[in-house]
Amino acid sequence: MATKESDAWVAALVEDAVTAPSMHNAQPWKFVFSSGTGVLALYGDPVRTMPVADPDHRGLHLGCGAALFNLRVAAAHRGWTALPELLPHSSDSWHLADVTLRPTGSPETELSSLYPALRRRHTSRSPFSDERIPTAILDGLSAAAHVEGCVLTVPGRWHTETVMELVHDAELFESASSSMREEIASWTRTGRAGDGLSTDGIPAEAFGPRQFGVTAPTRDFDPLHTERNRAEAVFERDPQIALLGTVKDRPVDWLRAGQALEHVLLRATLDGLATSLMSQPLEWPELRSFARDPGSGTGFVHLLLRLGYGPSGFATPRRPVGEVLTLR
Ligand SMILES: Cc1cc2nc3c(=O)[nH]c(=O)nc-3n(C[C@H](O)[C@H](O)[C@H](O)COP(=O)(O)O)c2cc1C
Repeated sequence: MATKESDAWVAALVEDAVTAPSMHNAQPWKFVFSSGTGVLALYGDPVRTMPVADPDHRGLHLGCGAALFNLRVAAAHRGWTALPELLPHSSDSWHLADVTLRPTGSPETELSSLYPALRRRHTSRSPFSDERIPTAILDGLSAAAHVEGCVLTVPGRWHTETVMELVHDAELFESASSSMREEIASWTRTGRAGDGLSTDGIPAEAFGPRQFGVTAPTRDFDPLHTERNRAEAVFERDPQIALLGTVKDRPVDWLRAGQALEHVLLRATLDGLATSLMSQPLEWPELRSFARDPGSGTGFVHLLLRLGYGPSGFATPRRPVGEVLTLR
């Protein structure tokens, strides 16, 4: 490919990649494409970290891993393979992956079949119906995580109740921590900041309705009720959740878990499910260890997924590709 052509092509790939979810929509990624080598490098962005909620950058790695998975899907959609080498330089922990792009004669059908879900997937903080998800669909989601070297556990009733209690505990911890509240507020876009011009953070339109009654199975990004016109709603009584985990808890595992997360979310979207994510109890070390199921091989839990049938969620903004991609 001529350089101009390949630059535009890589920009289109990155535009697809950044539809990934990220903690508080911080979009903590940077891409560098070297036309000489054909390698697309992925870096974590040190200015988009969350020192209070994510001091060891696990959440940052999860978001970047999700973007990496999208890159693989976007390449497969175009008949190419994106082969990632994770953490290629031990001396630079921000250098998360080098992705070699190669044309393939036969497109990877499973990956490319997920492509239509890239822009349909959104975090939905609305109530879901009480309709149960068929076991075959849940098995398919577990298989999607397994392919990426991770475990997706669908907890039974007692475990779900334990996890929901941990969410409630985390809400209390959060309301008592001014530094945590300030950090969250810096990533939410209400009032004048929610004027549609922001390209990161969570806009008020994506908050979903306020929970009526007991603890919400979604995070309330406006606990101080600054959004006056926000509706109230009753959420599902028995949230259907899943826990994404890995056996170990190293940066490489977080990048794998991020890819597994996006694989599961895209699969779920194609299966007609709405999804939302919860990291609240996992942001407090004293709560995180209780989220795991001692009877399963979950290991370390990285994210809680809420799945169900309901509104698909609001499309949050993304930074323009020119801001996140450097062409060399
Ligand atoms: C590591 C991680 C943690 C997250 N934690 C939460 C959470 O606790 N509550 C929540 O509502 N959303 C959570 N999210 C979802 C993000 O807020 C969401 O992906 C982001 O706002 C972009 O919106 P989108 O997913 O609709 O594209 C998390 C996402 C990631 C990747």
